[in-house]
Amino acid sequence: MANSPSSPSPVIRDVIAARASRRELLKGGLAFAASMAGGGFVGSLFAGEVHAATASSTLGFRELKRAYDKSHAAAEGYETTIVARWGDPLVAGLAEFDGNTITAEEQEKRFGYNCDYIAFMPLPKGSVNSDHGLLCVNNEYISPNVMFPGTTEGNAGKTMTKEQVDLGLAAMGHSIVEVMLKDGKWSTIEDSPLNRRITANTAMTVSGPAAGHALMQTAADPSGRKVLGTSYNCSGGVTPWGTVLTCEEGVCDLFGGNPKLAPTADMLDRYGFDGSDIYGRGRFHDRFDIDKEPNEPNRFDWVVEIDPYDPRSKPVKRTALGRMSHEASTVVRNKDGRIVVYMGDDDYFEYMYRFVSAKTYDPASPASGKNLLDDGVLSVARFDADGTVTWLPLVHGQGKLTAENGFADQAEVLLKTRLAADAVGATPMDRPEDIETNPVTGRVYAVMTKNKKRDEKKVNPANTRPENLWGHIVELIPPGGRGRDADHAADKYGWDLFVLCGNPKDAKVGATFHPDTSDNGWFVCPDNISFDPAGRLWVATDGANDFDLPDGVYGVDTEGAARGLPKLLFTCPHGAEATGPCFTPDGTTLFLSVQHPSEDAETLDKAQSLWPDFKDGQPPRPSVVAIRRKDRLPVGA
Ligand code: FEO
Ligand code: CA
Ligand code: CA
Repeated sequence: MANSPSSPSPVIRDVIAARASRRELLKGGLAFAASMAGGGFVGSLFAGEVHAATASSTLGFRELKRAYDKSHAAAEGYETTIVARWGDPLVAGLAEFDGNTITAEEQEKRFGYNCDYIAFMPLPKGSVNSDHGLLCVNNEYISPNVMFPGTTEGNAGKTMTKEQVDLGLAAMGHSIVEVMLKDGKWSTIEDSPLNRRITANTAMTVSGPAAGHALMQTAADPSGRKVLGTSYNCSGGVTPWGTVLTCEEGVCDLFGGNPKLAPTADMLDRYGFDGSDIYGRGRFHDRFDIDKEPNEPNRFDWVVEIDPYDPRSKPVKRTALGRMSHEASTVVRNKDGRIVVYMGDDDYFEYMYRFVSAKTYDPASPASGKNLLDDGVLSVARFDADGTVTWLPLVHGQGKLTAENGFADQAEVLLKTRLAADAVGATPMDRPEDIETNPVTGRVYAVMTKNKKRDEKKVNPANTRPENLWGHIVELIPPGGRGRDADHAADKYGWDLFVLCGNPKDAKVGATFHPDTSDNGWFVCPDNISFDPAGRLWVATDGANDFDLPDGVYGVDTEGAARGLPKLLFTCPHGAEATGPCFTPDGTTLFLSVQHPSEDAETLDKAQSLWPDFKDGQPPRPSVVAIRRKDRLPVGA
């Protein structure tokens, strides 16, 4: 490997040299490790602070021993409750879930499949209650091979019946369910009037610069402002005015037809459309056939805003936030009152984005948040070897973003966000997944899950390993100071590599966890992250199964002697990934989505685990789990 300790690539040598000079500039304000000894040169890049010989983690629990098992597990002293499973009723009077007979119509009233991002929205609205609220949960996709007998991942698109295809349309999107904590256990309120499903059939509106554009118009919607539904809802965010953002992550394989013959063939190609139609939608619904409706793809891959407190509200696709494989949309109210949204485009060599609103948000007037996300500047990140991040604005008429280069107006800049980012010279990343801000330090953490396609010629300062099978976490450092003083609207930040993931005992990997990291504590493929109220980072992984390890949740200090020292709290059952970690405001409950249990089985009858019900004749069920300390202190205490 080019990044072995003995042979740093030229790019890496440049990074090291540039960082040495930056150290001088920073005059110790952001201390970088001076020593190149031990752990290899990649390790030295990580070392944002020099570790004490023996770290003292602020995480008080005894670490879980890692085992790849049929069921989930949590560290000693913790208890778990299954809160909401695929198919749980969201209205009163429905029969008990039966995976063999569930219909598409019923699915519209039941908790969706493959739970992902979770927002806990306290009840009543505006409170910080931690024992009563709404769970707002993305339902990213379906796993037909462990839902429908005899179906495989490869044949699903061609063999699924219309009823199964329609079940799939209804099983994706978003689920809202009222939950209560009683006697230490969370449960759903089945007949709550706030319970709601948002699916691929839900009417929504389009707002922002691309609303109404010719490329957004279809036969069913000549206005270009009314879309049916949302899909591939991955991660998301919460606004200060009490709405939830759900992110559409790359719908390129949900459409049939031949994208090469479409008038927008180049744009469809840049967004990965290949006509594969993996869930058979195009066979039964014309709008999912690019030959019949070439503009329908343009109406997806946006960020959608939902008001969970008003069950009659229409979700809104906010086009000012750009069009990409949206992973997350983390919202910060900047110290000047403007709203900042951090976003990642989760695909190989894609980019990190930031939106800064034109107007400010006044917490005393929640109505000032309405339509705030329609007007502002979208930028994309360039990471330089001197430790600077520059946010490059994607504004029509500036630089190469002109009509001569294929961007007729701002709507087209947004519809073709990826092409605009290519044109301004953004830094291609190793699949940017979640981005979160540390409430204590104000620093921003961006997770690169992995990138096996990067070769030695393509490494760059922020993505240093060719064939990166393990992922890494980038730390962005806004100027201005800690916590609320951090300026999330600045044009330039500092940055560092927080941790390069993988097995620290394998020198070829070049992992840079804290030297005290245990055999259970190191992880691969970080995906979704969350901060607890004390500012500790919690990492959920997606991809450990490729290393015969369970995916799970790890707590990590970001400051002090234990910076970069992970501890394992929770492991998923066979075949599942951990997604959507979400704390209650008091930090005593960590909600987590356990997504796609047993998905690695070729067919349902070969499922390794029927988690969480373990009921013969019934499929496994993706579910939301609540993790709490038995003594009811905050998680991680
Ligand atoms: Fe849906 Fe990027 O994980
Ligand atoms: Ca993922
Ligand atoms: Ca994800």
